[in-house]
Amino acid sequence: MASLIDGKQISQQVIDEVALGVTAFRQHYARTPGLAVVLVGEDPASQVYVRNKVKRAGEVGMNSIEHKLPADCSQETLNQLIAELNANPAVDGILVQLPLPDHLNEAEVIAAISPQKDVDGFHPMNVGALACGEPALVPCTPLGCMIMLRQVCDDLSGKHAVVIGRSNIVGKPMAALLLQANCSVTVVHSRTRNIEAICSQADIVVAAIGRPEQVKSSWIKPGAIVIDVGINAIERDGRRRLVGDVDFANAEPLASAITPVPGGVGPMTIACLMQNTLTAARAIEAQREARLKAG
Ligand code: GUN
Repeated sequence: MASLIDGKQISQQVIDEVALGVTAFRQHYARTPGLAVVLVGEDPASQVYVRNKVKRAGEVGMNSIEHKLPADCSQETLNQLIAELNANPAVDGILVQLPLPDHLNEAEVIAAISPQKDVDGFHPMNVGALACGEPALVPCTPLGCMIMLRQVCDDLSGKHAVVIGRSNIVGKPMAALLLQANCSVTVVHSRTRNIEAICSQADIVVAAIGRPEQVKSSWIKPGAIVIDVGINAIERDGRRRLVGDVDFANAEPLASAITPVPGGVGPMTIACLMQNTLTAARAIEAQREARLKAG
């Protein structure tokens, strides 16, 4: 039987630490860190995510500003909003909820965000810094996965980690973080031959495919650590349910530790967004102080 990696509990620890950090920040700088969340259109899942992000920001004592744009808004309108948020000293973090409607250029939008305020860690400057092992704002979901992994594994060095999925949001930054932690990393994806044989050699499996219960028990080496990033809504027995990318019921008896869905990676992502916003606010203030000192 695997031990469950409790995302609710671990995320609460992160949230509590961030809340303490926000209090200290406010005392020191006489202002409150601010997060701007931009939602384009009315995708129901995105609406829920954005609402939760704004709610959490309030809980840690940050300001949050929600900007809603219509689904048919132009690239220029969105770019203009981002330019205003970049220039606004009350805003430390900017998050544009993805996916965007098809007519908008996602890469252009991400590149328009100031790298200092890029709390998603999606800007090419932050992606490059992460790849080079330099300080960067790191994407929230992989950051949350690393915190969970460290809770159940003291020494990641030399472990074989298999990341399933190669998205910019999860798969690629996850691989970079695991490499930084001295894992041997294999990234597998939809075109990989014999995924099952590769996965079944892994000490650590991170599943980020976006397909319900795709990772079967035969993919899991006994004793492996399994991190399930998937959140998929399915119908079962006439009921709507959330399941991960891993066939939890059958994988759980084999794994040494596993994240549940819901209550695993999901809450960690939002907690890490709060952590990144505080990190960004501190870096902005440190830069301001350095500029003042330099005259
Ligand atoms: N859509 C799904 N995950 C994410 C995320 O981490 N950040 C943003 N901005 N959009 C997302």
